[in-house]
Amino acid sequence: MSLDAVLSRIDDDLPAATDRLLDLLRIPSISTDPAYKAECDRAADWLVRELSDLGVETSKRPTPGHPMVVGHLGDTGPHLLFYGHYDVQPVDPLDLWDNDPFDPQIEDTAKGQVIRGRGSSDDKGQLMTFIEALRAWKTVKGDWPCRITFFLEGEEESGSPSLVPFMKENADELKTDIALICDTGLFESKTPAIVTMLRGLLGEELTITGPSLDLHSGMYGGIAMNPVRVLSKIIASLHDDTGRITVPNFYDGVPELSDDLEAQWQGLAFDHQKFLNDVGLSTPAGEQDRTPLEMIWSRPTCEVNGIWGGYTGDGFKTVLPSKASAKISFRLVGTQDPLAIRENFRAMVTDMLPPDCEVSFNGHGASQASGADFSDPMFESARKALTDEWQVPAAYVGCGGSIPIAGHFQKILGTEPMLIGFGKDDDALHSPNEKYDMESFHKGIRSWARILDALT
Ligand code: BES
Ligand code: ZN
Repeated sequence: MSLDAVLSRIDDDLPAATDRLLDLLRIPSISTDPAYKAECDRAADWLVRELSDLGVETSKRPTPGHPMVVGHLGDTGPHLLFYGHYDVQPVDPLDLWDNDPFDPQIEDTAKGQVIRGRGSSDDKGQLMTFIEALRAWKTVKGDWPCRITFFLEGEEESGSPSLVPFMKENADELKTDIALICDTGLFESKTPAIVTMLRGLLGEELTITGPSLDLHSGMYGGIAMNPVRVLSKIIASLHDDTGRITVPNFYDGVPELSDDLEAQWQGLAFDHQKFLNDVGLSTPAGEQDRTPLEMIWSRPTCEVNGIWGGYTGDGFKTVLPSKASAKISFRLVGTQDPLAIRENFRAMVTDMLPPDCEVSFNGHGASQASGADFSDPMFESARKALTDEWQVPAAYVGCGGSIPIAGHFQKILGTEPMLIGFGKDDDALHSPNEKYDMESFHKGIRSWARILDALT
């Protein structure tokens, strides 16, 4: 039976595949919030059932956090691993959603049909593209394309705390010829892409304490140090006027772009104006001497993800707060060492404290950047398969986001990660009204069928 028959089967089965995805999207598997622990478990059970019904030998594997789902199929040909994550980000601010984030809807929009709901793009919709491709393959051909191991995680959105121990303990079971990761996007929402560079991530939370209690800002204002003022000054000093980050030794291990890569990225003709205009901006705000693609793919960053302290409710309160806090993340590249940066950042902040103020830190995950060696011919085969499906030459690209497992595959298992995904820039990942285009879902499934055909 030909690949065409598998592709036709995928087309015919799209409504049923969509229903299955909607079912998974109804489970609020928010990994970072302990209140949703049982729901993460339920999502893992759902996947175990789905894969088992397909004929994949699958089990739910406990970890100190949320379970992993591991499955195996086939006994000949190359051995591929497929990775996706079933956990999702929190939904707040809930009032900005047009619908219940866990009551997913199919919507007709000016740009085509979309599947709306938390996790539709990141990453349940993407994860299901691979499962649906295999389902169609098995239905049409009556057999599997090759050996495949499924490795589905429930902690990706909360820093993957159980991942490294689990990979080390189960290294023999998880070692394969290549690891396919479906958790990235198309380039400029239209060009199929294989991601060859991912940034690392370091998360830090800090709280500055000044007075031992909240004070009246008239009675104490002027004589008492205000922790919000201290925190603001520290945050303002993290970048210099050219956009460079001022943490000591921060740029150790940041490589310059090779001439090859620079030429290749220039060839992509990235429309950064559109990229910014689509989110209400116009001016690149990173290091002044860097191109827009460098800013989002190959340069490190420091961003404030949240900041609070004092009175933020309705009305007005003349308070001089006792505490001020912020969550700050660093995106890392090259061989930047997250633990060294954590240490230097903490020392820098501590050195800036005025008398009577104290700081406490809470670390949130630390992963290094990773890059794939795409000289293996499997990369070219996959690229060709993607080109065939999308009728646009597929590109090798970078990605500003972080997927810690990609580096772990290389370091722990010696397996090269191949990152292919079908998300679009306007999917609203981690934001209200997240969506996945029906085109992404449909052509994503078809893409995997073509890739499986090309790799086996
Ligand atoms: N799917 C994303 C990674 C991603 C982001 C791919 C943007 C393509 C474009 C992934 O699930 C994610 O959000 N990762 C987190 C890291 C995690 C440790 C919280 C991220 O990048 O912030
Ligand atoms: Zn994701």
